[in-house]
Amino acid sequence: MQTVNFDIDTLIRENVKVLQPYSSARDEYISTGSPMTFLDANENPFETQINRYPDPHQNELKELLAKQKGVDKAQILLGNGSDEILDLLFRAFCEPKEDNIITLPPTYGMYNVLATINAVENKKVLLTRSFQPDVAQILETADNKSKILFLCSPNNPTGNSFKKEQVIQLLEGFNGLVVIDEAYIDFAAQESWITQLENYPNLVITQTFSKAYGMAGIRLGCCYASAQIIAVLQKIKPPYNVNELTQIKAKQRLEAIDSVKREIKNIIEERTVLTKALETIPYIKTIYPTEANFILIEVDNATQRYQELIAKGIVIRNRTNQPLCKNTLRLTIGTTTENTKLIKALKAIA
Ligand SMILES: Cc1ncc(COP(=O)(O)O)c(C=O)c1O
Repeated sequence: MQTVNFDIDTLIRENVKVLQPYSSARDEYISTGSPMTFLDANENPFETQINRYPDPHQNELKELLAKQKGVDKAQILLGNGSDEILDLLFRAFCEPKEDNIITLPPTYGMYNVLATINAVENKKVLLTRSFQPDVAQILETADNKSKILFLCSPNNPTGNSFKKEQVIQLLEGFNGLVVIDEAYIDFAAQESWITQLENYPNLVITQTFSKAYGMAGIRLGCCYASAQIIAVLQKIKPPYNVNELTQIKAKQRLEAIDSVKREIKNIIEERTVLTKALETIPYIKTIYPTEANFILIEVDNATQRYQELIAKGIVIRNRTNQPLCKNTLRLTIGTTTENTKLIKALKAIA
């Protein structure tokens, strides 16, 4: 368990440390409980339900999430998708042209994009052939400028979860922040690392409403970490980064969590059905084990198969140019009707 050697102050960028955060109109106002006249934020006074700025702290939404996830409200940061949260992590902790991050390709492409935008070196350590982190190589690659290690589990595009023991070795051995991107955790057999927040002060978890929660359109990402880490991110986030409509929709969804769970169950069942059907198609060489809402397959010629499916009106993802992913395609699990259509098309092009 990592309790020594971790001091968040040594990771924060100097400009962030001294930053006086923007104080929004709604930040300064403290409710007295009595009805108030709001003439503080230059809003249009005519009621449309969205004529006021949203709660910059998303208090009601965080209360619901805190209860469901078993964390304190102070351990939650919300963002405009988890992509915004990933960007905030760079901006809070990585000094441009000085610090570096470590990523484990093949993995989610935004880590590299964000590193480039933020002028932060991305040290890439390939996953092993079984798509697990190469712990020894990662720890050897890390130096005193390595601020963040990104672990995507279940990993996109491979679909597998990282083994617990290896993640623990990395949490204990890496001196910066370990960000576990759990965008697909709700489809996984492995439990979320959220339960380990108290044990690892360098652990940061990101989740999203875009996958299992069926709300990619509202753009809502969640970050769970120690209250100290969250306070740093909170300080630099745009004041109204989660809009009112998003907060309303997300609260409704959390209040109807049973329907989310039903959909997840259905998608997992469909994943099994689809896997079985894929096994019967001769040009599919490998079906990689998955704990996500997609399946990575190896085919005879990924680019050709991709084009053939496009001609049949089906868009999948060609991952053949990713390291360790030659001739692979990534298939998202759809509805029964969509999956049946996919299987029919895959058979037709055989
Ligand atoms: C691993 C991973 N993380 C994050 C995201 C982005 O999530 P969001 O929609 O919350 O920005 C994706 C989207 O595909 C993803 O695959």
